[in-house]
Amino acid sequence: MSMGQYTNLTDPRSELEVVRDWNGVEQVVLRSPRGDYARVSLHGGQVVSWRNDRGEELLFTSSKAVFKPPKAMRGGIPICFPQFGNCGTLERHGFARNRIWALDEEHPPLNHNDNSSKASVDLILKPSEDDLKCWPHCFEFLLRVSLSKNGGLSLVSRVRNVNGKPFSFSFAYHTYLSVSDISEVRIEGLETLDYLDNLIQRKRFTEQGDAITFESEVDRVYVSSPNVIAVLDHEKKRTVVIRKEGLPDIVVWNPWEKKSKTMVDFGDEEYKQMLCVDAAAAERPITLKPGEEWTGKLELSEVPSTNCSGHLDQPGII
Ligand code: BG6
Repeated sequence: MSMGQYTNLTDPRSELEVVRDWNGVEQVVLRSPRGDYARVSLHGGQVVSWRNDRGEELLFTSSKAVFKPPKAMRGGIPICFPQFGNCGTLERHGFARNRIWALDEEHPPLNHNDNSSKASVDLILKPSEDDLKCWPHCFEFLLRVSLSKNGGLSLVSRVRNVNGKPFSFSFAYHTYLSVSDISEVRIEGLETLDYLDNLIQRKRFTEQGDAITFESEVDRVYVSSPNVIAVLDHEKKRTVVIRKEGLPDIVVWNPWEKKSKTMVDFGDEEYKQMLCVDAAAAERPITLKPGEEWTGKLELSEVPSTNCSGHLDQPGII
C-alpha cells in the first residue's frame, strides 16, 4: 500500500466514512447509492479521488505524488487560497492547500441521514498564528464537498471576513482531470474569450476559432468565462462538464514535456494523462469588507459521450 492510501477498512455500503491515511491525516469518504465515490483529505481540504459508478477515476494523481504535509499532493483538487499562482507575496497558490483543515463542529459535520440527495462533508479552515504573520487577515473558510446521487461532485467555498479591515484574495479550485491522451482532448466553452498567458508575462490575447486543443505547454487564465464549459475526451468517450458560480475565470494548465521534467513530484510522461481546468478568481482579486462573505461553487459531472452538443445548455445543478 503506498503513502496516502487509507489504512482503515471501509464499509462499502456507508454513505460517509472518516478514515486515516498513512500519515494519520483524516480523510472523508463519500459514496452515492449507485456506487460513485469521492475522498477528501483534511490536508488542504483537497479532494483526492472522484470515481464514477464503474470505478473509473476521474481525477489525476501523479504516481510520484507525495502525500505528506506540508506540501499539497500533486493531483486531485487542491484549493488555492488566499493567493492564486505567484501574483502576490505568499507561497505559490497560497497556504490553504498546505494546512490541516478541521471537520466543521458548529454545523452538523456529517449529514448522515438528512434525506438529502447528496452525501456531504463540511470542513473549516481558520488562520493560525503563523498564517497571520504572513497574511494578517482573520478569515473563516467553510468548504462543503458533496457527492450527488448521480455521481456529480460539488465544492462550495464560503470565505468570511472576521477581521476589522477589508481584505482581498484570489482563489482557484486547481482541478487535475484525468485524461486518456492530452492530444485527444478538447475544451468547449472558451472560444473567442480573452486570456492572460502566464508563459508570456500574463500578456492578454484573444482565443480564436474552435474548441481548445493541446500540442504544447499551456498556462492561461481565460477571463470572464461562461459558467458552464466542457472537457471532451475522445478516447475515453466521456465529457466532464464543469459548472461554476462566483468564479469569473477558468485557468487551463498542462506543463508538457520540458516542465514535467523539472517537477520532482510528477512523472516525465504524465503530462499526457492530465489536464488542469480550474474555476478561479485569478485576474481580479475578491475584496471582502468586515463581516462580508463570498461564495464560490464548482460542480463537476461526467457524461459518457464525446458529443458535447447540449451539455453547455443544461441548467446548472449547483
Ligand atoms: C498552475 C500555474 O496553476 O499551477 C503553474 O499556472 C504552476 O504556473 C502549476 O506550475 C502548479 O503549481 P504547483 O505549485 O502546484 O507546482
